[in-house]
Amino acid sequence: MSSGCRFGSTLGTSPPRAGAAAAAAAQEGQSDAMEQLRQENEILQRELEKLRRFDNPKANVAWKGVYKSISDTLGAPGFPNVNARHAPDTHDDLDLEGIANIDSTAGTPGEHHWENGEWSQEKVKESTANHVMLSWGPSGPGKDFVQIDKSEGIYLIDRNGNKYLDYTSQAVCCNLGHTMPESVKAAINKQMDSVAFAYSGMAIVECRARLAQLLGEICPGDINGFLFPSGGGEANEAAIRIARRYTGRQKILTQYRSYHGGSSSTLTATGDSRRWFAEQGQAGFVKIFNPQPFGFSWGVSDMGASRRCLQALEEQVMMEGPQTIAAIMLESFVGANGVLIPPVGYIEGVRAICDKYKIVLILDEVMVGFGRTGQLFGFQHFDGVIPDIITSAKGLSGAYLPLSMVGVRQYLKDFFHSQPVGWGATYHAHPVAMACGYEVLKYTLEHDLPGKARDLQPVMMEEIENLVNKHPTVSAGRAVGLFGCMDLVGSDGKPLAPMSPNVVHNNPNMVRNDVRLNRFRKALRKNGLIGLFRPPLLHVCPPLIITETELRDLFRRLSLSLDVLDEEVIDDE
Ligand SMILES: Cc1ncc(COP(=O)(O)O)c(C=O)c1O
Repeated sequence: MSSGCRFGSTLGTSPPRAGAAAAAAAQEGQSDAMEQLRQENEILQRELEKLRRFDNPKANVAWKGVYKSISDTLGAPGFPNVNARHAPDTHDDLDLEGIANIDSTAGTPGEHHWENGEWSQEKVKESTANHVMLSWGPSGPGKDFVQIDKSEGIYLIDRNGNKYLDYTSQAVCCNLGHTMPESVKAAINKQMDSVAFAYSGMAIVECRARLAQLLGEICPGDINGFLFPSGGGEANEAAIRIARRYTGRQKILTQYRSYHGGSSSTLTATGDSRRWFAEQGQAGFVKIFNPQPFGFSWGVSDMGASRRCLQALEEQVMMEGPQTIAAIMLESFVGANGVLIPPVGYIEGVRAICDKYKIVLILDEVMVGFGRTGQLFGFQHFDGVIPDIITSAKGLSGAYLPLSMVGVRQYLKDFFHSQPVGWGATYHAHPVAMACGYEVLKYTLEHDLPGKARDLQPVMMEEIENLVNKHPTVSAGRAVGLFGCMDLVGSDGKPLAPMSPNVVHNNPNMVRNDVRLNRFRKALRKNGLIGLFRPPLLHVCPPLIITETELRDLFRRLSLSLDVLDEEVIDDE
């Protein structure tokens, strides 16, 4: 490299010249060199002229020689600033000394990790405040979370021995409740003793074959191929990849009132306001309206609403271009966004649209799969509907261990026989999680948990109806099986909290500052309830092992808590 005189050059611009002294010296040398080059050029031109006269192809070869002589990393001979290669900008030296003083040795773990005995509640609180982060909400409130020490049946028990009835199966996932069946415990332990882990891309463990076989046997239609990711979002991520890979198309259509997971793709596929955390820069997701929008109706009758909503969807498919749409992805019953019961004919119509335009239908059964709605799978409520891809999670392992599934129909299974799916994860098909899922699934079938949800549906209906009639803050409710939700409203009849809250950066309302709702939260706790509360929605989705007596007790506690909310709202007028 020459003496650094070509600083600042960028491609396509001439490098600046060297300093004055160097320039003068260079100039002198240059004129000699120029004269020499000029003479050589004259000789060359004469030679070339001779060659050309006879139309001699060697003329070109001779020119190549010239090119080689003037093309040089350091510039043409005698012309350091001509034809020189690009020299990058120089940067200021990095402050390596500054970081050299930072201590990066591992810290010393405290003795308290090796001491026997439990930590005091204060210590747990302090460590939580200092080190624990929450995910969807700000982390501040974490330190005040109830400290759970034990769990059994449908209850979680705190460190003071207070029992809380889990009215939403945590995140609608603890289908078997909080006492792990002995068969599940034994299977987990057996798997840990035999093969705790084998990577899914290079080995098969028996429980993987067994779980896939059992799912193949119980899944309706020809859903025959299975992946086993670790969570619902991951399953949807894989399902989207499968649909795109199979069709060669990009767009995924999903509903506004939906939740599909926390990864960038699945959160962009999500319709609720959590989508805003992720959607920047994500392409290929198009939103469609649910048959149950917030502020308008597609029609009074189910059939009318379905027909109009489907007409709008088909028009949207045509305008988007069917040849660009890989999949329509729906929750069979929308869960986190309100337990929405699709009008009769809607899901059936979506299936028909997918068939007509050769679009893959993905049904997200992460929340409702494995019995929640009174059927093993939610889509079994809809006549003749079989998805091309089904995803599920939560109930598959009863949330005892992280496990989800993607089930595909035979034609997709066949397609990927000789093609990579193009999705993977280290913990895909984790042996211990699958051993757990296999036993949970057998328990679900043996104890007919879908049937239990079906049997208790009338109690859900009756009790929700009672709450709507009794409490002015409850405007309406919905239920299918043990999957229920009510809408909370203020005295003006409007939702008690925005349905689409601004959750993005720096929104001060993200801090739970609604006094009325905070008092309601406290009332829930005081009445011995624990559950997922997403105002203005009040879900009721207890473990599927709940008895009728326990379910009625749940609603009694809920009603006592709603008394407090009623008062708060009336006081607020
Ligand atoms: C319908 C639906 N899909 C996907 C997910 C995401 O599942 P996970 O939290 O296991 O990633 C959820 C979670 O609640 C869900 O309800």
